[in-house]
Amino acid sequence: MNFKLAVIPGDGIGPEIVDQAIKVLDKIGRKYDHKFEYNKLLAGGCAIDATGGPLPKETVEACKKSDAVILGAVGGLKWDTLPGHLRPERALLGLRGELGLFANLRPAVIYDELKDACPLKPEIIGDSVDIMVVRELTGGIYFGERGRREGSMGQEAYDTECYSVHEVERIAGIAFEIAKKRKSRVTNVDKANVLESSRLWREVVTNVSKDYPDVALEHLYVDNAAMQLIMRPGQFDVIVTSNMFGDILSDEASMITGSIGMLPSASLGEKSFGLYEPIHGSAPDIAGQDKANPIATILSIAMMLRYTFNLEAEAKNVEDAVNKVLKEGFRTGDIMSEGKTLVGTNLMGDLIAERI
Ligand code: IPM
Ligand code: MG
Repeated sequence: MNFKLAVIPGDGIGPEIVDQAIKVLDKIGRKYDHKFEYNKLLAGGCAIDATGGPLPKETVEACKKSDAVILGAVGGLKWDTLPGHLRPERALLGLRGELGLFANLRPAVIYDELKDACPLKPEIIGDSVDIMVVRELTGGIYFGERGRREGSMGQEAYDTECYSVHEVERIAGIAFEIAKKRKSRVTNVDKANVLESSRLWREVVTNVSKDYPDVALEHLYVDNAAMQLIMRPGQFDVIVTSNMFGDILSDEASMITGSIGMLPSASLGEKSFGLYEPIHGSAPDIAGQDKANPIATILSIAMMLRYTFNLEAEAKNVEDAVNKVLKEGFRTGDIMSEGKTLVGTNLMGDLIAERI
């Protein structure tokens, strides 16, 4: 099969980790007889330098014409003092909105090989931690009406949280579909004891659950969920939640794994179109030094093969190759421990590609 991919390397370590992902994807292409075409595009800080804005129209248009998008990372010190609408991060929100990427999947997995990196005690980790955070990505308070105004006590600012039944139905549907292929448990996280938007959210999630009698549903308030994640992370399978709660809880869940350089993500829209990126940032301090861990980006490729192209065997092959390299003791600096073999970005990419 032929696949057209939009590739946004971005800033900092973005280009070097994306190169490794492409290396692995090309190997998959040769083995399974697929052809991947890459169209490299600008977004983030490099786009600000080249065009004056973080998300050029051409980038959005080219993404829309592609089958899927691969993104490295955006941002860096150099652009940190720009006003909000010109910052590299705007490119991410812009892409999500323009491409209709309403579902963000963020797996938090503790790898057996890297259990030492987890900051929690072994008795708390238990047998395994394998959580899929499903975050709503184009609604809620990040996209609601906001502004400043004169209040009775002077200037004030506001942001609004609003969710429609439709928005909740489609994200809940994704969460239940994913749970069906996992351990069949969905935890809905909201703040329904206080927020009206959460009460609607909970009602709709409960309604959607009726179509999935084999999937167990429980509800947690977000404050309790934050606590449970640290106390008993093994209890979770799929967590479904709003844009802001998902932003916060997915960072918390990723820290539990202790290896943020390992975690991929998928942002999905209608008809299986998706954007795939590591959850970590652009790490400008180590950019261009062959030190970055490319595994999160390589695992994002696996998610792309699975969720957009429905190529389960190919996705599994990438994940197995990553596990193999870890078992053999190869480590980039961020996941290095005693007795293991330290390798750079490029060699890590080679080793994984060789094991496809
Ligand atoms: C994330 C990031 C973004 C978000 C920022 C950079 C806009 O924190 O992807 O989680 O809040 O969604
Ligand atoms: Mg975040």
